[in-house]
Amino acid sequence: MRLINGYWATGTLGTAAACDLFTHLEAGAATPAALAERAGIAPRGAQALLDGLVALGLVTVAEGRYRNTPEASAFLVADRPESLAGFARLKMGHMASLAALPDAVRAGGPVADAVVEIADNPHWEGLVQAIAAQTVPVAHLAAEALGLADAGRISVLDIGGGSGVCSAVWLGLNPDARAVQIDWAPINAIARRLLAERGVGDRVEHVDGDFHTVDFGDRDHDVVMYSNIAHQEGPEENQAIFTRARRALRAGGTLVVSDYIADDDRGGPPFALTFAGEMLLKSRRGSTWRRRDYRTWLTAAGFEDVRFLDTPSPTTLVLAR
Ligand SMILES: C[S@@+](CC[C@H](N)C(=O)[O-])C[C@H]1O[C@@H](n2cnc3c(N)ncnc32)[C@H](O)[C@@H]1O
Repeated sequence: MRLINGYWATGTLGTAAACDLFTHLEAGAATPAALAERAGIAPRGAQALLDGLVALGLVTVAEGRYRNTPEASAFLVADRPESLAGFARLKMGHMASLAALPDAVRAGGPVADAVVEIADNPHWEGLVQAIAAQTVPVAHLAAEALGLADAGRISVLDIGGGSGVCSAVWLGLNPDARAVQIDWAPINAIARRLLAERGVGDRVEHVDGDFHTVDFGDRDHDVVMYSNIAHQEGPEENQAIFTRARRALRAGGTLVVSDYIADDDRGGPPFALTFAGEMLLKSRRGSTWRRRDYRTWLTAAGFEDVRFLDTPSPTTLVLAR
């Protein structure tokens, strides 16, 4: 029953995020009446949401007073760099798209236009800002693994950089680093604004266009980032991009891939396996790829040293030299 009604969790969590319930709880509103008033919702609505959140383990109740759990406090209060509240709202809006899954399963892919392959798709505008919070801790881990803070005057190429979150983290840690981001023009416009707000905008160049065809350069960069992109691409596309990334790197440089990666026998991890269905719905050639797929493509592209780094999130990092 819990699995069959799984969409209740997405709906309850997305609605609570849309009403800023976690933010109001954090600020001290502790009763349904107080929350209803601050959120501008009906008292009956506030009670139903709170009941659902208690059931989901995101909120606790004692003597009629409600509080965020430590997880809700860390990840669902708005306006914190690692807040997933925007992502919870976004995913609630994606629920209806699952109605097309039976058709996609029958056809082996999307029956209408594939979302990820449409240039300048408004889908990205909501998505890149909502997923930035997920990328923040991963970007910090990669920075630590590569010693980026103390690496001096390095150049970073971010392929499909989205909100610019990796540049924001890495250039924030290293005042001498510079970055180039390739993405569609409307997304680069969002990144420009966010990077300026983070005080690093003057060190990032934006190249508008399709990363399948935009020139990556020849030994121009010390780090190439490919974050949350490999899953939308097919094997040939990933291998071709890794080959161009290898050419773009200076001697000793590193390609960083960040993605949901399946075990070689496709027996886990659960998040990566489930995400394959998302790519079936939204892309013609994407999937969650296995560690051995990455190894094969990277080796064919000329990388000799390939390391996988697990992170506390569903994301795995691949560091290739
Ligand atoms: C899932 S988002 C990842 C954003 C960012 N790398 C991150 O991890 O937060 C995918 C990004 O790739 C961009 N993108 C997808 N296909 C592209 C293409 N063919 N050419 C340029 N950018 C593309 C999208 O606009 C979006 O910003």
